[in-house]
Amino acid sequence: MSLQVRHNVSLKAYNSFAVQAQARQFAEASSDEQVRQALAHAAEQKLPLLLLGGGSNLLLTGDVEALVLRMASRGIRVLEDDGERLLVEAEAGEPWHPFVQWTLQRGLVGLENLSLIPGTVGAAPMQNIGAYGVELKDVFAGLTALDRHTGELREFGLGDCAFAYRDSLFKREAGRWVILRVRFALSRSAPLHLDYGPVRQRLREQGIEAPSALDVSQAICAIRSEKLPDPAVLGNAGSFFKNPLVSADLAQRLRVQHADLVAYPQADGSVKLAAGWLIERAGWKGFREGDAGVHRLQALVLVNYGQASGQQLLELARRIQADIAGRFAVRLEIEPNVL
Ligand code: EPU
Repeated sequence: MSLQVRHNVSLKAYNSFAVQAQARQFAEASSDEQVRQALAHAAEQKLPLLLLGGGSNLLLTGDVEALVLRMASRGIRVLEDDGERLLVEAEAGEPWHPFVQWTLQRGLVGLENLSLIPGTVGAAPMQNIGAYGVELKDVFAGLTALDRHTGELREFGLGDCAFAYRDSLFKREAGRWVILRVRFALSRSAPLHLDYGPVRQRLREQGIEAPSALDVSQAICAIRSEKLPDPAVLGNAGSFFKNPLVSADLAQRLRVQHADLVAYPQADGSVKLAAGWLIERAGWKGFREGDAGVHRLQALVLVNYGQASGQQLLELARRIQADIAGRFAVRLEIEPNVL
């Protein structure tokens, strides 16, 4: 099938903030061939090409003078299975949470802590998605990407991706790689990760002492649903800021002023602070101006109550950043891609 290109398409339904913005041109790619056709079309039209997964890690601050290409390829397959360990491959356009459920329904262990994260399989490596003590890199086995510079396919192993906290080679070299499909190392009985935050406690409350991966997934879905707004109901892009890394010295000084500071010492001696705590302490939780706001249950999440523009959300973010810098001498870094 050849690529269908549409003109002047609203992106409101294609970004989880539900911000209104027009794409000059828009197409969906369901195969490698259609990705190549889109690249050729954009070059011919002298338009940049903007790749879109689920649009759940994106803030659009204006119309997009580009060919917006939504990755819509589907397919999940088991490549290897030795009875205990499996190699599972999914196409970039597969929605993330249904893919996680697909693995859990087959009794596979590995992705349960990453349940209910919005977005697609192909976008997951971009920011090395993470939650409840597990990051994508912990289950990553490889991916296939198209190099837009050369048009060639390239295979990436774990060591090639420069994965770090909400970061990767693909994020740093934005615009170069089209992730086509991702492979995951899963198993039938790997140990579960229950030590992060309220996971174990939640399972105990339910009387579950020896949980399955599916139990863990269900507990995490419940925890997330209580704190994080559903993008289908209230526009948002998950955490709007990264949790900042600061020096042990600054963390110590802040602790003297704020005994209840939430801080996680890191292996390299630095300290990760909970940005949500800083923002809440600064009084922003539940703040709303027009339709742009700070979620009332999770201060790290900016929300669109309906008609907020990307500019308004970005201005709110800048005010929060300036306030946090002034109060705590901490620089908050924006997590989603701002366009
Ligand atoms: N906190 C507050 N006030 C708030 C929010 C948080 O005091 O308004 C405190 C909490 O009480 C807790 C600490 O901050 O002590 C951490 O909060 P939480 O466990 O909710 O996690 P987070 O640091 O706010 C991170 C990720 C989330 C991920 C959760 C769970 C980042 C930027 N965010 O949030 O990821 O789901 O941990 O692992 O690292 C995302 O990236 O979009 C995302 C939602």
